[in-house]
Amino acid sequence: MAFRGPGGRVTNLALLVALLLAFATGVGAVASGSSGGRWVVIAHGVVAMAVVVLVPWKGRVVRRGLRRARHTRWLSLLLAVLAVTTLLTGIGSTTGLVRSVAGALGMWIHIAAALALLPLVVWHVLARRARPRRADLSRRTLIRAGLFAGTAAGLYLAQSAVVSVAGLPGAGRRFTGSYEAGSFDPDSMPSYIWLDDTTPTIDPQRWRLTVSDGSTTREVTLRDLSAFDTRVRATLDCTSGWYAEQDWAGAPVRALLPHTGHARSLLVHSTTGYWIRFPVRDLDHLLLATTVNGTPLRPGHGFPVRLVAPGRRGFWWVKWIDRIELTSTPWWWQPPFPLT
Ligand code: HEM
Repeated sequence: MAFRGPGGRVTNLALLVALLLAFATGVGAVASGSSGGRWVVIAHGVVAMAVVVLVPWKGRVVRRGLRRARHTRWLSLLLAVLAVTTLLTGIGSTTGLVRSVAGALGMWIHIAAALALLPLVVWHVLARRARPRRADLSRRTLIRAGLFAGTAAGLYLAQSAVVSVAGLPGAGRRFTGSYEAGSFDPDSMPSYIWLDDTTPTIDPQRWRLTVSDGSTTREVTLRDLSAFDTRVRATLDCTSGWYAEQDWAGAPVRALLPHTGHARSLLVHSTTGYWIRFPVRDLDHLLLATTVNGTPLRPGHGFPVRLVAPGRRGFWWVKWIDRIELTSTPWWWQPPFPLT
């Protein structure tokens, strides 16, 4: 007898679980910057392959559904288009075969399509509830789920093997999925901005850094900061899918804030209004960089001062800093990703 695959209800439930896991691990993948986070990126690849495995079964469900006329059909079709876009841009980025579409970075399209997909998935599930049954927790279902997860993991390994054996561009990407761009050559390093900031024009003579330890505040000039020459080799890994290793130099944050007292976090603020909160335990690793590879930072790279936060993704590396401040607020009291 031919293998008929899972029924519509099981396919829908499995796809829902896979999409939610893909979303959660995808967010984890762009948050991870040190090698400890590698497993999240691998998990994302495996879960994404689970979605791919489910595509043919879901195709049958969709074909049946299209026979019924529904006025919300266009929303379901939009959902399908976004899901396919997410899958194709993900695979395009991972293999390196399609890294940009019409001048837009594939990874940005991937993330934007996935974010747009989420509310549609929620609507779709509420509109067509596939209710779990007690039998879904049976031993048989668990064995099937295990086989299914094994197939997805096998597909992920097969794809990774093809990428490295065929020498596809994806073979050279970092564990976060990012591609090298402009290492030790800051002029060719991209200068992306998190969401809606624009590069400010800063007069170095008038610029001041406000340093506050929670009880006292002082101002530091660029000349004061340039007197430090602490060097750090660190990798800037941008969430838009590129990374660059550089030799940064400047003032260690610890030199400006030697005593943390009862402070719980360090707020790093930019002239643009952008800010990020770090746990105080990070203080020993943070550098206020004034030069990169021996030359002053370019405006797009954060002139006059940007933060170097080794092991953290690019959105933590605040540019155009104008204030650092120890506070009693816990570091996690902020959105997981900056909102502007
Ligand atoms: C919700 C549905 C999502 C689906 C179906 C999906 C699907 C995929 C696929 C198919 C790949 C290629 C994996 C491979 O070929 O091994 C991929 C890679 C990737 N995705 Fe997603 N994704 C989703 C959401 C997200 C989100 C929300 C983010 C980030 C916020 C994200 C970030 C990434 C990253 C960083 C990679 C590259 C990983 C690498 O190169 O190893 N994804 N995704």
